Amino acid sequence: MSPVLSLDGVTVRRGRKLLLNNLSLTVGEDERWIIIGPNGAGKTTLLQIAAARLFPTTGRAQVLDETLGRVDVFELRPRIGLCSNAVANSLPGHETALNAVVTAAYGVTGRWREQYEQLDERRAFELLNTWGVGTVFDRPFGQLSEGERKRVQIARALMTDPELLLLDEPGAGLDLAGRESLVARTSQLVSSPEAPTTILVTHHLEEIPPGFTHVLMLRDGETVASGPIGETLTGENLSTTFDMPLRLVEREGRYSAFMVR
Ligand SMILES: Nc1ncnc2c1ncn2[C@@H]1O[C@H](COP(=O)(O)OP(=O)(O)O)[C@@H](O)[C@H]1O
Ligand SMILES: [Mg+2]
Repeated sequence: MSPVLSLDGVTVRRGRKLLLNNLSLTVGEDERWIIIGPNGAGKTTLLQIAAARLFPTTGRAQVLDETLGRVDVFELRPRIGLCSNAVANSLPGHETALNAVVTAAYGVTGRWREQYEQLDERRAFELLNTWGVGTVFDRPFGQLSEGERKRVQIARALMTDPELLLLDEPGAGLDLAGRESLVARTSQLVSSPEAPTTILVTHHLEEIPPGFTHVLMLRDGETVASGPIGETLTGENLSTTFDMPLRLVEREGRYSAFMVR
């Protein structure tokens, strides 16, 4: 089984700044990865590469057996589901929640002249239902609560039945109940054998849903640690990643951390 994502010595440079520095990562089909690190660590940059939206300055990036730079990204992108702030900001606020999801089938954000098959609409509606937002299907996306918007975005990311699902801080801005229900649904999703290979970016340990198998810990564009979550997510690695003495707490498959005084 060839990897879903394979990065080999990937560097991203903007001017004199290295956003990613010599990063290597292999993500297998059955794996679910967390990418964790402080603000500015390069998490979004890494996810943009995995989403075939950004090419490395140097190094090699392979996504779904295709090498970036040698593949038509417009053929590759529908195989990848991306939920990020950039995608959310590109969705017109006046479009309904259903349209925000169904338009993903055509790789567009607004509903113009495309004729949508009934089948696509049904799938979009089912996805909204699965994510607990079926009742707001006809409400404008821009008028939804933050929690509803996040779920609509994930439904949109799943619309094309992607082989790779990328979630960039899906829990950001949610209240406690919103976060907990998102964590539960994401956990349910990734626990299914039919689920796409999933990579979730966060900087909060509380947002790691049970069922994720691996973690990449990033700091200043470099890997601090990477591997199976049980052995890699440790207080020591967290302390290095966040540059602060931290103790890890694990309980019933959930994580949190606090500063050691
Ligand atoms: N085009 C750019 N030019 C210069 N610096 C950038 C550019 N884009 C992002 N950065 C910087 O690169 C670093 C990594 O960004 P990002 O990948 O968004 O981090 P994260 O998602 O972990 O917070 C940040 O310090 C950010 O300010
Ligand atoms: Mg980011």
